[in-house]
This record gives sequence, structure tokens and C-alpha cells, in this order.
Amino acid sequence: MLVACASCCPRAARARADRRRDRRRRVACRGARSGTRTGHAAAGAYSEAQAKRGEARFVDACSGCHARDAHGGSDGPSLAGVDFLSAWDGRSVGDLFTRIRTTMPQDSPSSLSPDAYIEIVAFLLRANGFPANATDLTRDPALLKTLLLARTR
Ligand code: HEC
Repeated sequence: MLVACASCCPRAARARADRRRDRRRRVACRGARSGTRTGHAAAGAYSEAQAKRGEARFVDACSGCHARDAHGGSDGPSLAGVDFLSAWDGRSVGDLFTRIRTTMPQDSPSSLSPDAYIEIVAFLLRANGFPANATDLTRDPALLKTLLLARTR
């Protein structure tokens, strides 16, 4: 089950909105609910509008192999859900961004603009249950490194 950091820690979510680069976001929700290993660092890291733009780009460039809802098909693995999150558990949003930017679309790697790739990452965060916030995810590598993909166990 996914736990929405923003809803389990309203105070942390507000602090996050105020100070986007606050590295403490990484541990802001740790232990906020019993049974969770840590909060979701990537929660609140993107905006809904950005994810919407990313969805349109994903449909254009990625859905042929990964399906429109990112759950995968015969030509590409699922990019949303338990299996994907298990594979990426503990790795950073920056790692995911780099992986996509340098290797996808598989038939034409690095063919999109950097902004298009970051919007697609926002869409994938939404597809994996990370809640949105008010501000867009940026391409700042230092920031992307602090945002971790995590799932509850
Ligand atoms: C021509 C088919 C094709 C297209 C188009 C494509 N992919 Fe892929 N993708 C694959 C295949 C096949 C794999 C698994 C092999 C690999 O990892 O390279 C994969 C793997 C991935 C992975 C790694 C999955 C994991 O579990 O680690 C990500 C992330 C990804 N794709 C994202 C994207 C995104 C985002 C786009 C659009 C910009 C895209 N792909 C377009 C075929 C495709």
C-alpha cells in the first residue's frame, strides 16, 4: 500500500511547499505512521499540471510500448505499481530521470527535450501514487538526488 506523505504529515508538506530545496524532506515523514519504513520523499515533488503535460508526452512517446496508463504491455515493462517500485525502491528520482533521458524511447533515446523528460517523470510519480503539490519538479540534479522512490513494506 502506498502512503501519501503529504496527507500523513500536513506540517511537513507545508514546509516542503515553502522551501522546495529543503533536504530534510527526505526524512520529514519517517515513522509518521506505524508500519511504514519511511515517508515518501518524492511526495509533493511535482504539480498536477506538470503531470498532465507529462501524460500527454508519455502517450505520444512511450505508450506504444508501456501502455497509456504505464502498466506495460508486450513491448515494454510496467512503469507503475508494486513491481516497478520494488525495482526502484530507495533509488532517486534523479536516477529515474537519467535512465529515461539516456535510454528511452528505446527506439530513439534522448530524442525529447529535457523538460519533456522531467514532465514524464512527474507523470510517472503520479502513476505510482506519489501525491502532487503546488510546485513543478525541476531539473536541478542536486534536488533530484535527494528525492527518493520508496514503497512501504
Ligand atoms: C519501442 C518500445 C519502447 C518505447 C517507445 C519506450 N520504451 Fe521504455 N522500455 C522498453 C523496454 C523493452 C524496456 C525494458 C528493457 C530496458 O530496460 O531497456 C524499457 C524500460 C524502461 C524503463 C526501465 C523500467 C524498469 O523497470 O527499470 C523505463 C523507466 C522506461 N522504459 C521508460 C520509458 C519512457 C519514459 C518512455 C518514453 C519517453 C519509453 N520508456 C519509451 C521499451 C520502450
